[in-house]
Amino acid sequence: MTVNLSENKVWVDGCFDFTHHGHCGAILQARRTVKIPSEGQLYCGIHTDEAIKFNKGPTVMQTRERYEHARAIKWCSEVVEDAPYVTQKDWLDRYGCEYVVHGDDITTDADGNDCYQLMKDIGRFKVVKRTYGVSTTDIIHRMLTGKRCQENYYPTIDELKFYSLGEDGFSKYSYVFEKDIDNILVKGEVFDFDPQKSLLLLGHFDLFHIGLIEQISIAKEQNPELKIIIGLLNTEDNIMTLKERCLSILSCKYVDGIIIEPSVEKLNDEFSKILKIGSKTLIRTNKDDFSNYLTKDVIIKRIQDQKDLYIKRNASKGLSI
Ligand code: CTP
Repeated sequence: MTVNLSENKVWVDGCFDFTHHGHCGAILQARRTVKIPSEGQLYCGIHTDEAIKFNKGPTVMQTRERYEHARAIKWCSEVVEDAPYVTQKDWLDRYGCEYVVHGDDITTDADGNDCYQLMKDIGRFKVVKRTYGVSTTDIIHRMLTGKRCQENYYPTIDELKFYSLGEDGFSKYSYVFEKDIDNILVKGEVFDFDPQKSLLLLGHFDLFHIGLIEQISIAKEQNPELKIIIGLLNTEDNIMTLKERCLSILSCKYVDGIIIEPSVEKLNDEFSKILKIGSKTLIRTNKDDFSNYLTKDVIIKRIQDQKDLYIKRNASKGLSI
């Protein structure tokens, strides 16, 4: 069969457990490697829980949760389910992707072999910069110890600008404000921001998981005429830092802007509508909804229930309690 490979189609694959801004950063950088950005397509191959358990160890987030979280990332065009742990040429061919992109770390399979060696050997591998300071391991460590991360707590303007980029990876899309809408940190250029045409969703969005993302998507579905602006509340007891929550939120395709640490009273009269987002806020009756069962406490319990295993795993990665 003749395969038409396109320079505008790129493949990324991985576990994407606890999908965080490091994963989103790799996807965004990969999306920016295509020849014609407006025609770019990013295929995100995700491994099943079984494949990850066999090659690396158990995941915290389950297969369907990881698939749907990746589907909500702004720069991801399509999620390819059950992607092989060791990247295969015929999978890239099937989707017309000329190359695979991966962060500059080495990923190995159960036998200790480089998962990308086959792709490297045939010249279909590109590398992007891994995002420093964020990892699933570190977030689990905070849950195990109750310690909070103080390092790089706030995002820089450059980070906010980068994660505000639109679907094509280049257009200036999202707005970022601090405290109130007069204080603009990043200005979008694709649409004019108008609080009277926007819905403000207030919350902490800790562990930015698919239960929360689903709530944002329901809000969007119920208010299709309004732009979605997140009002990111902040207290020191959140597990994820302000920066981690901010950049994860900006990576979400349902979000049009964010107000960091909003002055809620001041904003009350300005927005067309304001809602609070937490567990069980915007209930829909679909039995498959993540919001029916997935909360921050459920995720913490998953870690606590397998505490010994995670302590051992983290210690092997240099994070001892
Ligand atoms: N990635 C990244 N920066 C990070 C973490 C991951 O750029 N801080 C990239 C990886 O290099 C890979 C993609 O995200 O290209 C998916 O990574 P994944 O398979 O989920 O695994 P890990 O690299 O193990 O991520 P983590 O350490 O957070 O579990």
